[in-house]
Amino acid sequence: MTKNKAVRIGLLRESEVEEAARIVRLAFGTFLGLPEPTQFMGDRDLMTPRWRARNTKVLAARIDGRLVGSNVITRWGSFGFFGPLTVLPEFWDHGVAQRLLEDTVKVLDGWKLRQSGLFTFAQSAKHVGLYNKFGFWPGYLTALMHYAPATSALAPNGSTPVLLSSVKKSQREEAIRGCARLTNRVDKGLDLSDEIRAVLAQGVGEVVMIESRSKLDGFAVCMIGPGSEGGAKTCYVKFGVVRGGDGADARFDRLLDAIDGFAVSRGADVEAGVNLARRAAYTRMRAHGYKTMIQGVAMHRPHGDGFNRADVYVMDDWR
Ligand SMILES: CC(C)(COP(=O)(O)OP(=O)(O)OC[C@H]1O[C@@H](n2cnc3c(N)ncnc32)[C@H](O)[C@@H]1OP(=O)(O)O)[C@@H](O)C(=O)NCCC(=O)NCCS
Repeated sequence: MTKNKAVRIGLLRESEVEEAARIVRLAFGTFLGLPEPTQFMGDRDLMTPRWRARNTKVLAARIDGRLVGSNVITRWGSFGFFGPLTVLPEFWDHGVAQRLLEDTVKVLDGWKLRQSGLFTFAQSAKHVGLYNKFGFWPGYLTALMHYAPATSALAPNGSTPVLLSSVKKSQREEAIRGCARLTNRVDKGLDLSDEIRAVLAQGVGEVVMIESRSKLDGFAVCMIGPGSEGGAKTCYVKFGVVRGGDGADARFDRLLDAIDGFAVSRGADVEAGVNLARRAAYTRMRAHGYKTMIQGVAMHRPHGDGFNRADVYVMDDWR
């Protein structure tokens, strides 16, 4: 394994969060060739809310005490993923990312997950080769999709969706347990409870839930608002799921409608990712009107499907 002995890895400190967020923008903006690299993702913040959440660890790479890169590692129960992984452009190709990845896999292994993953640029031999060196194997494409719902979406079909922030505080934990039961059916141990708690505690989004006869049919964790991963004008669906089996297509359509209604109520468009192995979910999203903006590849460690399977009705993208 390549070592860059000048690089020290540790946890990102609060005093470094702003600079880490700047490096995220600069690194992606430079890689993508944006005229103003630091404008990457506009008002959206992929670093600060994650640094504050309890289900993440953010690693920092430093040279002589100077922050030169970082990586966010996120845990959803028995599944973990990492990103954004970024290095200051002037230090690219000096082994900094590999030093971060050595410690990243230690964190993932320490969490005793069933599987871990990441989303990356499928066309980049460097990216795929780098992650492959650490045991990640490319699977299906993941599409990052966009949809601008009509204002009429405010009145969705079927029962009215429930917003978790409007559920009485005393009943929220029970609702979160319901979400965990649902994800556990999709993949054993998959659990977004801490992600959901972080979103509500920080006020950086909402959980939109659909029910039938008081039973949870599905939910979507939507990031939106100033300082969030979605920013002011994007309802970013970090994760969405409905119960599989009979009637899953209709449940998924209802969840998409519910997300539209929520997005319109906030004056936002919707952005959601889906892995193309989840054939029905992708097909329903296309039929609903979602269009792919960018596609990348999901990489898995160990090599295997995890919850990127044809029978799974999940939206997420592991960015
Ligand atoms: C991607 C990024 C994090 C890599 O950081 P880095 O510090 O330059 O990467 P490193 O020098 O540690 O590792 C480079 C490795 O890529 C791999 N690689 C490079 N070119 C390759 C190729 N053509 N084929 C296969 N593997 C290749 C090699 O393993 C190489 O290391 P090695 O030569 O020692 O074997 C950095 O370029 C970056 O910040 N890019 C912009 C943001 C981004 O794309 N982030 C990742 C999103 S998933």
